[in-house]
Amino acid sequence: MSAPVTMSAEQVLAELGELASLPDISPTWDEAQKLFPAAAWEFLQPQTIRERMAYCGFEAPAVQAAISAAAGIVGRPALARLAWYMTWRVFHGSAKDTYLKNWPGLEGSLGELAGCFYLICALEAVPGVRTWHKLLGVPEDVARQTCRVIFGMAENYRRSRGGRCGVFARQWPWLRNYIGKNLYFRLGRLEYWAEAFSGAVEAWRDRRTGSVVALARDNTRFDGRGRVVRGETKAPDEWTATLTKSGETVSGYLITPQGQILRKQVELRLDRWAPVLNAGDAVLSVHIPAGGNMTIDACRESLNLAADFFARHFPYIRPTAVCSGSWIFHPGLERILPADSNVLRLQRELYLFPVPTGPQDGTWFVFYQDKFDPAAAPRDTSLQRTILDRLAAGEEWPGSGGMFFLLEDLPNFGKEFYRSNHSGIFNADL
Ligand SMILES: CC(C)(COP(=O)(O)OP(=O)(O)OC[C@H]1O[C@@H](n2cnc3c(N)ncnc32)[C@H](O)[C@@H]1OP(=O)(O)O)[C@@H](O)C(=O)NCCC(=O)NCCS
Repeated sequence: MSAPVTMSAEQVLAELGELASLPDISPTWDEAQKLFPAAAWEFLQPQTIRERMAYCGFEAPAVQAAISAAAGIVGRPALARLAWYMTWRVFHGSAKDTYLKNWPGLEGSLGELAGCFYLICALEAVPGVRTWHKLLGVPEDVARQTCRVIFGMAENYRRSRGGRCGVFARQWPWLRNYIGKNLYFRLGRLEYWAEAFSGAVEAWRDRRTGSVVALARDNTRFDGRGRVVRGETKAPDEWTATLTKSGETVSGYLITPQGQILRKQVELRLDRWAPVLNAGDAVLSVHIPAGGNMTIDACRESLNLAADFFARHFPYIRPTAVCSGSWIFHPGLERILPADSNVLRLQRELYLFPVPTGPQDGTWFVFYQDKFDPAAAPRDTSLQRTILDRLAAGEEWPGSGGMFFLLEDLPNFGKEFYRSNHSGIFNADL
C-alpha cells in the first residue's frame, strides 16, 4: 500500500528557500513521494554511504563529509523528501528529462555541505551499475572502474569549490545512462557506450593501400568556415554537402583526417574503395571521464581493452569503430594547446570531423562555469592558464569536434595512421 503524500513540493521548496525549482519538480513530485517511506532511507544511512563511496575510490575525509551531510538531510524531512525525489527522478522514475532548469542550490540549508546532497543522490548509481553488470555477466572489476566516474565528478567539484566534497547538480544525472539498458563501461582510461553511428560522415578504405577517407554525409549543411549548421536559421555562406551512390561509385565532399571539410567533390570507385563506416553501424562511443593523464599509452591500452571486452562479452555487436563528439576533438585546439599535449597527440591518431557546436561547448569541463567568462575563470592548472592566455591573445574557443577510429586500425594506433597514410587522396584517379 502506498503511503500518503505528507509534504507537497511547494511546502518543501518554500521551507528550503528554493521555490525557483517548483516548475521543474511539481509535475512528478507526488509520483515520487508515493514511494518515499519504503525506499528513501537506505541511501541516507552512514553504512550505505561508506560502502558506496569506498567502491568509487573516495577516501575517508570525503566519506566523512558526505555522512555529515546525510545526518543533516535525515534530520530535516524537507531535505530528505527532496533527496528522495532527485534520486527517484534520475534513477527510478519514468520522467524522460532528468535535468532541471533550476536546480536547488541548497547552500541555505546545507551550507558548505550542499554539494554532498547531490553526491549522496549520485551514489544511488552504484547498486544500479553493480546489479546491471552482474546481470550482463561482466567481471565485477568493470563495475568498480565504471563507478569511478562519480569520483571524477567529485574531483571537478573539489577543484572548483576550494577542496570541498560534492558533485555539481548539472553533472550527476548523466549517471542514468550507465544503468538498466545501455552497454556502457569504463575500460582503462576511457568509457565506452555501444551505439549506432550517427556522425555526419561516412568512411571508405582504399583496398590497395589501406588508407581511409571520409566524406560528409548527404545533406549535411556547413557554413563558410566549415562548421556544421543545424536549425532553421541560414548561416552566412551556407552550403549543403551531397553524397550520391551508384552501383559503381560514390561521390561526395572530402573531410580531411584533420577534420576540415573541403569544398571539393570527389568520386570514389567502389571496386577500389570499400565502405568501412556508415550511418547505423555498431560503434563504441567514447566518453572521457575527468582525471587528466590521457596519455597515448593509456588510450591505446583502453582501446585494446574495449575491443577485447566487447568481442568476449557481446560478440553479436561487432563494433567497427570508436567515435566521439567533444571539445577534445576540435581541430582548432591546435591553435590553443601545445603540440605535445595529450589532447593534441590523441587528435593526431584519430580521424576528426565537424559536428554541430556552440561557442561555449566544452568550457564547463575545464572551467566549471555555467556561463563561460574568461575574465573570471579559474587559472589554477596549466591547462586552464594555457587556454585563457590564448583566448586573451585573440584566439577563439573552438567548440566541439567529432572523431572516429576504426578498430581494425588498432595495430597502427600511435603511428598517426590516418594522417600519414592518405597521400594520393586528392589525385584525379580516385
Ligand atoms: C581531457 C583531459 C583528460 C586532458 O587531460 P590531459 O591533457 O591528459 O591532462 P594532464 O594530466 O596532462 O594534465 C595537464 C594539466 O591539466 C590539468 N587538468 C587536467 N584535467 C583538467 C580539467 N578537467 N580541468 C582543468 N584542468 C585540468 C592538470 O591538473 C594539469 O595541470 P598542472 O600542469 O597545473 O598540474 C582533461 O582535461 C580532463 O580530465 N577533462 C575532463 C573530462 C572531459 O573534458 N571530458 C570530455 C567531456 S565532453
